[in-house]
Amino acid sequence: MRKNLGSAGELFPQSVFIVASYDDAGVPNAMNVAWGGECTRNEIAINIGDHKTTENILARGAFTVAPADAAHVMEADYFGIATGRKVNKAEASGMTFVRSAFVDAPVIEEFPLTMECIVKDVQDWGGEKRFIGEIVNTSVDEEILDDEGRVDFGKMRPIVYDSTRRIYRVVGDVVGGAWEAGKPLL
Ligand SMILES: Cc1cc2nc3c(=O)[nH]c(=O)nc-3n(C[C@H](O)[C@H](O)[C@H](O)COP(=O)(O)O)c2cc1C
Repeated sequence: MRKNLGSAGELFPQSVFIVASYDDAGVPNAMNVAWGGECTRNEIAINIGDHKTTENILARGAFTVAPADAAHVMEADYFGIATGRKVNKAEASGMTFVRSAFVDAPVIEEFPLTMECIVKDVQDWGGEKRFIGEIVNTSVDEEILDDEGRVDFGKMRPIVYDSTRRIYRVVGDVVGGAWEAGKPLL
């Protein structure tokens, strides 16, 4: 028996993207973004309301995106419940914000994977903004690379947001090969 739950989608997984930026005065900031995702191999969309981060990205035309890992769930959540309008989250979090060599935005060193983006497009809708970021560099901690130099998400242990219960979950298990698991049905 199936039930109809209405129009609020139950989309899973949602990313836990930590979006970092600088303000006009050069103060670093970071926020937690679940409503975001990959558009193409080198473009990311983030959908954000009226936040300090929104002002920063409009001012600087750049941001970085670090998918949060299980080792930093406390800091990742903090970035989503405190605002840079009231507190310096970079200092309060104890994380290390360093200037990207590629874009006008900070990289948070403790997150093992970061996409460095320039703003390619800004779309307005209903008081919110969708920023399309073009990835100009991806920086990675060698600790999460495999023997062939590929990012190993099994080592990284990224977390995802489960909006039905407002919890973070870890992803990692491999259950099949892509472009492979369906072959018995060809
Ligand atoms: C799990 C989680 C996911 C979130 N996703 C989004 C999002 O996709 N878009 C958004 O505008 N705010 C989102 N937020 C809220 C912002 O992260 C929060 O308002 C934050 O304080 C903004 O920081 P800032 O004012 O320093 O930029 C999320 C918060 C949490 C905890």
